[in-house]
Amino acid sequence: MKTLPQHIGPIGVFDSGYGGLTILEKIRHELPEYDYLYLGDNARTPYGNRSFEVVYAYTLQCVTKLFEQGCHLVILACNTASAKALRTIQQHDLPKLDSNRRVLGVIRPTAEIVGSLTQSRNVGILATEGTIQSQSYVLEIGKFSPDINVTGEACPMWVPLIENNEHLTEGADYFVKKHISRIIERNPKIDTLILGCTHYPLLLPKIKNYTPKNVRIVPQGDIVARSLRNYLANHPEMEKKCSKNGTVKFLTTESPEKFKSSASIFLQEEIEAQHIAID
Ligand code: DGL
Repeated sequence: MKTLPQHIGPIGVFDSGYGGLTILEKIRHELPEYDYLYLGDNARTPYGNRSFEVVYAYTLQCVTKLFEQGCHLVILACNTASAKALRTIQQHDLPKLDSNRRVLGVIRPTAEIVGSLTQSRNVGILATEGTIQSQSYVLEIGKFSPDINVTGEACPMWVPLIENNEHLTEGADYFVKKHISRIIERNPKIDTLILGCTHYPLLLPKIKNYTPKNVRIVPQGDIVARSLRNYLANHPEMEKKCSKNGTVKFLTTESPEKFKSSASIFLQEEIEAQHIAID
């Protein structure tokens, strides 16, 4: 590993692909003054059905790249990586890489506020197979609101639909309807559905179509953005290391042209991207 730069740098935002852009957008809206560096591991997406070992190894490589690019703080804008890699990176790798750098995830901030959203105390989690199997939401929500009954539904086709830009087609309706109907059938008392994968807000129009009107749909972007604001306010030593010129840059492990054209659709703005090799 290269020596890590010590000067102030952008906040790193990592996802397996395009999903983290839904988080980045909300973070930039909440905290526009900071610089951001987004890294999408598009060459190896999706992570959702990969083993613990693989998700951990890929995530650690990408986090290390972001550190090498000058980030002191990295947000895993990916539930699968947060579920499978975050704790090991925090406990095992950060002390060796640089104990002053930080990596934060998206599951804990979401779990923290679920209790204030549900009346029926029955919450559904829509996520990748990896996130559901890890039981991370059940465990984290249990810490804050032990009275809540959590039902998890894995939606393995949703990320591939989005990564292939098929999420607004008629074909996507079948897969969206299938999982929404199934989770509501499994627990009809659900009044809150958490989109526990950062890709899923891109399917929001279809998710809304198939969700009963009394059920609240909760994307994570605003939750993570507010939680980052609180984190920076409570950690002035880290806040000082985050540069503030209001810029955003994009790195991808795939072709920059491909990233640029797809990301522009998701963000509804023109962007530039650079390739980064993961060795
Ligand atoms: N966007 C990611 C998540 O929040 C991962 C999707 C994937 O790579 O399968 O889980």
